[in-house]
Amino acid sequence: MEERRLETTIGKLRLRSPLLTASGTAGSADELASFSNAAATAATLGAFVTKGVTLVPRQGNPEPRVIETRAGILNSIGLQNKGADRFLSEDLPKLRQYGVPVIVNISANTVEEYAALAGKLLTGDAGQISGLEINVSCPNIKEGGVSFGIDPRAIEKIVTGVKANVPRGRQVLIITKLTPNITDITVPAKAAIAAGTDALSMINTLRGVAIDIRAQKPYFANVAAGLSGPAVKPVGLCMVWDCFAKIPECRNRQVPIIGIGGISTWQDAIEYLLAGAAAVQVGTAWFVYPNVFVEMEQGVRKYLAAKNTTVVELTGKAHG
Ligand SMILES: Cc1cc2nc3c(=O)[nH]c(=O)nc-3n(C[C@H](O)[C@H](O)[C@H](O)COP(=O)(O)O)c2cc1C
Repeated sequence: MEERRLETTIGKLRLRSPLLTASGTAGSADELASFSNAAATAATLGAFVTKGVTLVPRQGNPEPRVIETRAGILNSIGLQNKGADRFLSEDLPKLRQYGVPVIVNISANTVEEYAALAGKLLTGDAGQISGLEINVSCPNIKEGGVSFGIDPRAIEKIVTGVKANVPRGRQVLIITKLTPNITDITVPAKAAIAAGTDALSMINTLRGVAIDIRAQKPYFANVAAGLSGPAVKPVGLCMVWDCFAKIPECRNRQVPIIGIGGISTWQDAIEYLLAGAAAVQVGTAWFVYPNVFVEMEQGVRKYLAAKNTTVVELTGKAHG
């Protein structure tokens, strides 16, 4: 029973723990290995979500790329990555050594490119990828990015295209990652559900600006960057709450929600579960506390035991 308390399911994927890495914050194989406690961290994870992979390599944005804010960070990485081919040949085999399901976060500039990228990854991975998380919500690239995330028709086309390129007979979880840079998050959520997404994840970063007062200019070349960390937690919770409360497929867990945004302690993770998340991703907190997953898992485990409950029972419980 003790072990099973932490279990959760997202679509057909059963996870031993509700704790996942948030894309872009734990890198891929090499970055994970550079943490001294990589094996201990991996042992606490339900799945590893990679940084954003694109069809061809991307240099990312010019520096500076990150600045601290009072309760978080602003980043403008611009999806720097080595592209799908090198991800498959170099990172995926190393990531699989941790024995944790791998979910690949994917980004593209056009609807067709998302579909092509999904096809490439899922035909070249020797069955090693458990899920794709479609990033329709990156605020740090000039084309595509967040503009897809606020256009329900574009979301439908992207999800449909990705699903069409899942090889027949493969069970791959398709997650759509939503942007908070919108008034009503249930609109893109419903579009993704209509196109057959298996799960939703939310939130990506919020648009924000920093000004360099010495240069009297914006700090980032692209002006707006993405805000993450403790400052965004109430926003993420609100969006999870709204989707769970207003979308029947979320409430009955046919389309589960993965909560993201500012989760830094086990108490934050519990709040997200109670608001309606079936699992959570942790990002910026890892930059501050390298042991965050180990401590979070212990805290969640103790809470579940003290309340004699499970992650599954807790999901959405605050809605009554
Ligand atoms: C440095 C950095 C890089 C990120 N890169 C990606 C990415 O490649 N793809 C993506 O979908 N989200 C990316 N994100 C967003 C995170 O996955 C997450 O949605 C966001 O940071 C909120 O969670 P947090 O407050 O726990 O960090 C990135 C965030 C940060 C801070």
